[in-house]
Amino acid sequence: MSLLFLTRFFRNPFRVASIAPSSRALIRKVSDKMDHSAPRVIVEYGPGEGCQTREIVRRMHANSRLFLFELDAQLCRHLERQFANDPRISVHNIDCALLPDVLADAGLPHCDYVVSGIPFSIMDKAKKREILANTHRVLAPQPHAAFIIYQVTNELRTRGHCDHFAHAESEWCFFNLPPNYVTAFYKMRNGVNGTNGKNGKKGVHRANGNGVHAHNGRNGNGAH
Ligand SMILES: C[S@@+](CC[C@H](N)C(=O)[O-])C[C@H]1O[C@@H](n2cnc3c(N)ncnc32)[C@H](O)[C@@H]1O
Repeated sequence: MSLLFLTRFFRNPFRVASIAPSSRALIRKVSDKMDHSAPRVIVEYGPGEGCQTREIVRRMHANSRLFLFELDAQLCRHLERQFANDPRISVHNIDCALLPDVLADAGLPHCDYVVSGIPFSIMDKAKKREILANTHRVLAPQPHAAFIIYQVTNELRTRGHCDHFAHAESEWCFFNLPPNYVTAFYKMRNGVNGTNGKNGKKGVHRANGNGVHAHNGRNGNGAH
């Protein structure tokens, strides 16, 4: 149990929306949905104190980029300290609805994965629609590209909030407090080679023909 996370929950329960960080089992299920065999542009919405982030960083390609969007300023400072020595990672203390602007500033047309732990179920409807539309728009039109969420309810899928995605796969993670659904929404139905997810090897997205290292945005050297 992270004390920092718990204190941020009591400070803003409707934004943080969970009393404990993701369990090892949930972290594994989320990270297993990504293929890190090539450079990727990865985005995380609501990293909190960084438990999912650390696993993504452990697995990701040396030439990948990782953009973290966290509204809580204190959690952001904690993330900046943790990842200060890794130039692949930038921390943004802004609403994740601003993802398209941040990618554009970085000279990146698309991202490969968006991992989200933000509480969509208790979010303002207009904000939810904006984030879901933006996420779909910036995902690379590639078979592996996915929006991966973990939530107590699966309402983004069951209530049709993500019907603009072509395909979805869900699983249940019991070993988390509380248990969560993990759902991956794909932009392309079954992809060009008939597979989605981590074995979809075709159509590797290289951000600008030169791997994501070609990024030269305002925060190209890590957290700001
Ligand atoms: C349930 S916590 C998830 C924490 C962590 N990812 C984990 O696995 O334990 C949700 C986090 O999302 C952040 N958050 C909520 N709405 C957000 C938004 N619109 N943009 C960026 N971060 C947001 C909160 O501040 C909080 O840290």
